[in-house]
Amino acid sequence: MHIHQAIIPAAGLGTRFLPFTKATPKELLPLLNKSAIEYIIKEGVDAGITDFYMITSGNKPTLAKYLQLAPELEAAIAGKKGEHLLSSISTLIRQARIEFINQDKPLGLGHAVLMAKQQIGDTYFGVLLPDDIIFNAKAALAQLIGIAQTYNATVIAVQEVEPDQVSSYGIVAIKKEIAPGLVELSGLVEKPAMHDAPSHLAIIGRYVLSPRIFNSLERTQAGSGGEIQLTDAIQHVLNSGERVLAYQVEGSRYDIGTPEGWLQANIELGLQVPEYTNAIKQMVKKF
Ligand code: G1P
Repeated sequence: MHIHQAIIPAAGLGTRFLPFTKATPKELLPLLNKSAIEYIIKEGVDAGITDFYMITSGNKPTLAKYLQLAPELEAAIAGKKGEHLLSSISTLIRQARIEFINQDKPLGLGHAVLMAKQQIGDTYFGVLLPDDIIFNAKAALAQLIGIAQTYNATVIAVQEVEPDQVSSYGIVAIKKEIAPGLVELSGLVEKPAMHDAPSHLAIIGRYVLSPRIFNSLERTQAGSGGEIQLTDAIQHVLNSGERVLAYQVEGSRYDIGTPEGWLQANIELGLQVPEYTNAIKQMVKKF
């Protein structure tokens, strides 16, 4: 199984980060000195993805601009001080083919993924939700791809959450443990109430999906929040007899679509830069 394509659903309005998102897509929020989308695409490239399908709504011209080469700017700063600050995104853009696909109606995550059906074709592919930033030496998507290849199955990334958090996530129901951190699922439920949750393992934004998901998405009715949910479509794939696995990915994960998660991600990144570590620790001690 060769996985070289990934979908990045980026059509959301970013309401949790208003008013910032009035003018700038949340995918361009800065995480230390790079935008969130740069971490996402880097994670994909590190996992062997060469073709990305970015699902956007209306126009996010600044997102497209950020992901295009800027030869004039490159020429203007060549040999100058800031050159290295531009080079990491330019290198990444040269490694990835990024196609923008418009989602004309805000019908949900499942509907957004369905938008890339023609482009993906009949192969397994990755999905990266750009709100979820995962820091780890081995890219989270690469961890999933390794498992999908070993077991020839759909694999979803999960992490344990506190019981009072389950209603913010898709939650998985476990059939059996296959290996440490890896389980086969008997079901999945989108944003259950605390007392209905079948486990505390929450879906976090990385998936390797079989192409059968597209037929399933076409049949999926609006679910939680009145939206066509990817979680429900994966449940249909499972019902049709395919094995669906969940893996507790290694790495620290932040929901950077909220100010709190964004701040935490920045602090973790800052603490990784030796020149900043002491300054941050001393500042925090003051309070
Ligand atoms: C989406 C998925 C949900 C998952 C979450 C992870 O929800 O539908 O299953 O747990 O991403 O971030 P959203 O956060 O878009 O409402």
